[in-house]
Parts: sequence; C-alpha cells; structure tokens
Amino acid sequence: MNNNNYPNWLDRAVFYEIYPQSFKDTNADGIGDFGGIIEKLDYIKELGCTALWLNPCFASPFGDAGYDVSDYYRAAPRYGTNEDLKRLFDEVHKRDMHILLDLVPGHTSVEHPWFKESMKAEKNEFTDRYVWTDSVWEEPTGYGSLRGISDRDGSCAVNFFSHQPALNYGYYKPDPAKKWQQPMDAEGPQATLAALKDIMRFWLGLGCDGFRVDMAGSLVKGDEDGKGTIALWKNIRAFLDAEFPDAAMVSEWGEPDKSLQGGFHMDFLLHFGPSHYNDLFRCEKPFFAGEGDVSEFVEKYKENYEKSEHKGLICIPSGNHDMDRLARTIHGDKLKVAFAFLLSMPGAPFIYYGDEIGMRHVEGLVSVEGGYQRTGARSPMQWDSSPNAGFSAAPKSELYIPQDESADRPTAAAQMADPHSLRSEIKRLIEIRQAHEALLSRGEIEFVYAKKNACPLAYLRYAGDERILVVINPSDREVSFPCEFSPTERIYSFGGELRTDGKTATVPACFAGFYKV
Ligand code: NOJ
Ligand code: CA
Repeated sequence: MNNNNYPNWLDRAVFYEIYPQSFKDTNADGIGDFGGIIEKLDYIKELGCTALWLNPCFASPFGDAGYDVSDYYRAAPRYGTNEDLKRLFDEVHKRDMHILLDLVPGHTSVEHPWFKESMKAEKNEFTDRYVWTDSVWEEPTGYGSLRGISDRDGSCAVNFFSHQPALNYGYYKPDPAKKWQQPMDAEGPQATLAALKDIMRFWLGLGCDGFRVDMAGSLVKGDEDGKGTIALWKNIRAFLDAEFPDAAMVSEWGEPDKSLQGGFHMDFLLHFGPSHYNDLFRCEKPFFAGEGDVSEFVEKYKENYEKSEHKGLICIPSGNHDMDRLARTIHGDKLKVAFAFLLSMPGAPFIYYGDEIGMRHVEGLVSVEGGYQRTGARSPMQWDSSPNAGFSAAPKSELYIPQDESADRPTAAAQMADPHSLRSEIKRLIEIRQAHEALLSRGEIEFVYAKKNACPLAYLRYAGDERILVVINPSDREVSFPCEFSPTERIYSFGGELRTDGKTATVPACFAGFYKV
C-alpha cells in the first residue's frame, strides 16, 4: 500500500458535504451558488468541520444533477465562473480548511463534445474515448447501452443512467473474439487516462485539495476482482505523487482493501454492497432507532478493517445525496446518539449538509434532475425563519427543489441558539474528537461489545498511551454488558451516566459516553 504521502490534514478532517444546488442562493434564481457557499463558510467552520466535499459543479445538462459532465474544465454557469470557484478555494484556505471536488471519471454526458465526436462514423481522435462495440446489434457490458443514435455502427456502454456513456479505460482481459474490447494499454484507453490526469491537474493547479471520486471502482471493464482498476489508480497515484503529493483522494468504491491498494487515502462505507451500513440508519429496524442489530455491521467492518491493515481509513457518512435523509428513520435524541457514533469512529466523518440540524426527508416530490427517490434528501438548506428558510430570495415556486413545509422545520439559526439542539451536540462532539488523538481518523479501534440484536455497542479507540472506551445505547432500555475497564475520566456523556463495578457496566437508555480507561 502506498500511503507515504498521506496528507496529514486528513487525520483531523471532519467533512461537510455540500450539494451546491441546495445550499445557499445569492442571486435569487432559486439555485445555490459558489457565492452562497463562501457566505456560509464561517457557519461550517463554527460547527467544527475542517473540510468540504462539493458535489459536481461543472458544466452539465444536469440529467443526473451534474454527474453528467459536458465540460470538465468549466464551472457550471449557474454556480458561477471558474474565477468564483477559485475564490471559493481561496476563502476555504484562508479559514484553514480544505476542499475536495467531485471527480466523475467513469462517464460523461451525451452532450460532451468527446461523445459527439465518438458517435461519428469516420474515425477520429475520440472514436475510442468510450466503450463501443462494433455492431449496433451487439451490446457491450450487460449494464445497458446507447444504440441507434448515431451513424457509427455500434452500441456504447453506459455506466448509470442511459445518458451517461462509459469512458474507455479498456478491458482487464479483452475477449479475443470481441475485437472492440481494447486492452488497458491500447491507444484509446491510454488517451482517456491522459485526459483524466489533465482534468485533475487543472483543478489541483487552481487550488482544490483533492477529489471525491465517483464510482471509482468501475473504470476498467471485465474486471471482476478490480485488479485492472487498481492498476489504473496506482498509475494515477504515481502521477499525483510526482505532481501533487498533498492531494487527498477519497473513493466511492466501498471496498477499502482494493481502493487503498489503488492509492486512495480513504474509502466510503456505502449504502449499497455488502457493508451492512444500512442496518445502522436506514432499514426497517435500524440499530440507531433502538430496535435493530449492529452485529453484522461490526463483523463486516472488522473484516474491512483487517483487510485495510488497521489504517482506519473507512469513512462513514451521516448520509449523502443518494440516500434518504438520516432523520427519516432516526428521531429526537437518537440522532444525537447516532452522531456520537459517527464522530467517534475511525476514518474521517462526513456530515451531509442539513443533517447537523436533523433536516427531514421531503416526501412525495416529483423527481428533479435525475434525483427520483433521492430528491427528498436534496431539498434546500434551512437557515432561518425568513422566507424560504433563508435559502433564497426567489419566489417559492422557483426554488430548485421544494422545501420541508412543516411549521416546526428545523433551522440552523434556531439550533445555534439552543445549547441542547442536535447541532450544538454535534459541535461538542467534534470538539471532543479533535482534542483526543485516539478519536482521530487513524486512532485504532477494537470492538468490546457488539452482540446480535443487543445493546449497547461498545468499542475502544486508542493511539499512543490514550485509550477511550465508547459506549453507545440507542435503545429505550437500560442495558448492561461485561466490562472490566475502570473509567478514569469521563470525556463525554449524553443521556446519563455509565455505572461500572469492574465486571459489569450498566448503561442508561438512549445514551452515549466516552471514557478514558
Ligand atoms: C454516484 C453518485 O453519488 C450519484 O449521485 C450518481 O448518480 C452516480 N454515481 C452516477 O454518477
Ligand atoms: Ca443562484
């Protein structure tokens, strides 16, 4: 594993994910913009977050909210200009914070000029930029394709929606009977890779601190074990080591053993795949709602932790723009207990904008820009009690997505004024994390108690001489567990006090506590 150049700031990083459309609008067009993000940087800093992840903000027809890029080198005009984005980088750095852009290397929009060229029957520079078969009657990957749309005879692989053609990084082991499957070192795939590096060079050169990488594990085709894609990212790691050694890379991959080998610094636990992440927050009986099971999540986490050599680089998000809002399933004080967990685990925590105030999932919305069921988690931030919750001065009907209409919708302003609010609790938790080495991203973890259908969840975090016992009980019952530790100092507690007698610890209902042992 090559993590020699691990950017040190990542160890203390607490990320805040911004969905730019919905954060803060400064020109009354109903859509958030760079100016709005700049205006709210102090709010994010005050919460204690040290870094941002910005969802795609590049030119796009917005058929998938910007994950369908039509010009990688240009900021989407609705958010501002490249100069405005550069100003955002500078303002972030002035506050001693960092910012990751969202890199979408796997596919473009059908409107990208590369794709338009690649649709032409005559061979040209972009003929092999995408994964095309050589007959319209043959489909490439089994994940769907674009066909019957061009003079070129062939079908083009898509990666997600059918308007997102797959860029060609080659096949791991091309089938000799299918000539159109190109090896990774063929000219077309190599040109795609060079183009990707140029894009990265451009934005890193302008001052961004790294990337969250979309669908990072699926670039090379016919690559079930990920070996080709790992090799591809290793190649990119060598380029970064040479030109931008401080750039931070976080993957949407969900298999830390693979992504870390590829040279990523951190990987996400995802809501799809085998992570059991959904057991915690988003299933019929989520653990943090008080009735569910945490044991399978812990087993899977341990497996990944072993595979990734205890590097503690698995990021657990509070949510993101693809999932239901956390507050759809977890309510009241249980949200505080959930955040005590999120902010005391290894790997950098990611807070999805609005989750810090318990913003609700807006139900029953018509899809906006390819959001579908995700749309309800993408509604505009609720800042205060002014019209449109302070998000925008546009008429309500022109907001990007309708907001939560409830009279008691949470707002940032009200929660900042209330020391008992969710946001105030999160702010405290971040302060505590930052003040203890053992709680930082790379502090180690050992699970102490995580039994099937039982509470609490208990684990030890440690670094150097510091050992911290974390006890989490989202259930409505007082519970106990065998515990030989004798706490020497309470660092944090919510919902009462832990009692220990050297053999058993008794844990109050709806409780979270951190103790030095
Ligand atoms: C994952 C992104 O998070 C999601 O929003 C997007 O639709 C797909 N990748 C396709 O790029
Ligand atoms: Ca705007």
